[in-house]
Amino acid sequence: MVKICCIGAGYVGGPTMAVIALKCPSIKVVVVDISVSRIAAWNSDHLPIYEPGLDETRGLGAGKAADLTYWESAARMIADVSKTDKIVVEKSTVPVKTAEAIEKILTHNSNGINYQILSNPEFLAEGTAIQDLFMPDRVLIGGRETPEGRKAVQALKEVYAHWVPDDRIITTNLWSAELSKLAANAFLAQRISSINAISALCEATGAHVSEVAYAVGKDARIGPKFLNASVGFGGSCFQKDILNLVYVCECNGLPEVANYWRQVIKINDYQKSRLVNRIVSSMFNTVAGKKIAVLGFAFKKDTGDTRETPAIDVCKGLLGDKAEISIYDPQVTEDQIQRDIVMSKFDWDHPVHLQPMSPTAVKQVSVAWDAYAAAKGAHGVCILTEWDEFKELDYKKIYDSMQKPAFIFDGRNVVDPQMLREIGFIVYSIGKPL
Ligand code: UGA
Repeated sequence: MVKICCIGAGYVGGPTMAVIALKCPSIKVVVVDISVSRIAAWNSDHLPIYEPGLDETRGLGAGKAADLTYWESAARMIADVSKTDKIVVEKSTVPVKTAEAIEKILTHNSNGINYQILSNPEFLAEGTAIQDLFMPDRVLIGGRETPEGRKAVQALKEVYAHWVPDDRIITTNLWSAELSKLAANAFLAQRISSINAISALCEATGAHVSEVAYAVGKDARIGPKFLNASVGFGGSCFQKDILNLVYVCECNGLPEVANYWRQVIKINDYQKSRLVNRIVSSMFNTVAGKKIAVLGFAFKKDTGDTRETPAIDVCKGLLGDKAEISIYDPQVTEDQIQRDIVMSKFDWDHPVHLQPMSPTAVKQVSVAWDAYAAAKGAHGVCILTEWDEFKELDYKKIYDSMQKPAFIFDGRNVVDPQMLREIGFIVYSIGKPL
């Protein structure tokens, strides 16, 4: 394989191609994207995404912009421009059987060119993308079970073999690879919803969710990772992939299985509204006109990504109860926050229908430059992302600048409730006794 063209220079395409280019000097890597400015940013010193370690990774070649929106138009474009046989690798998470649809589009427009479709789902997580790419738990490659299919799988395997040990490269059929990606994300999200469901019970009974998670995770069959109770999971993948899985189940006449997975999302929504309800009820059943400092807006630490962040729902819930919120996040821009808060999910998916910003929502929301400015004069502080810097804040200084009684709602369990209580705060931490 001498040349790889990647369609899409986002959170997956950018870092993955940077690592392939770095590890495989004999391969020419070209990245195209619908956004000219995004390509320009990749070619500059100011990368379009924040990812620890990425700045040090060199090797991303210059790209050219392509005008396409969906995988279907990508497939049609590949058919239009190909002059020689191609291996088409599905890397984005797609509904199961998309490979079959891509294959149909390509073979019906082939002009004698042979295409092999592979599914090679990406398992990297944002914030640790470079580390995950350098040392993946596994690389999964699915292809057709024909001699040509196996040859294509082998060709892609050789790319990864530059740096990934052989026993970590799994090969399967196409559908297993597509479904494994959805199943892996569903399992991860299910662990979070499981511990979050337990966190509600902890609060009701006086148990500590971190102690329960530790004790449960010590069982080697369960394991300790991904058991941190939180305000809920966010990010562009978990919810979308579970909904995808639910849809595939329904299409295949499996409503019981669909309902089982749907419940993972229901618990996640419940966890977000539970926090809003807790804030309102603690603050004497009203937050109207009260200032609440929101610390953290990204869906998790070490990223500026806000897609499906639980902070959007929590902030909207508080705004619905007429709170005034002041938001601070070390990586998310003011513009992004304002857009996330006023836009509905429909707007995100259909930007052409975008309504003008609602003036009330904008007025109630301000964005601060640091945590202290956000908390000044506030009645409550609400931590929604587990940024390391929130562990190190001078909480006495924050307390002194706030209205009394001063409340802290820790949606990520980053601060020690005992230490805060000694300062004078009224503290609520997810899954911990009040
Ligand atoms: C997730 C998967 O972890 C990746 O393996 C996968 O490749 C990726 O989706 C994808 O499909 O693209 P990502 O969404 O970047 O990665 O982030 P995660 O680290 O999985 O976190 C997702 C959400 O769960 C975050 O909001 C995080 O705060 C939350 N979380 C995570 C918890 O609430 N508790 C935990 O114990 C762990």
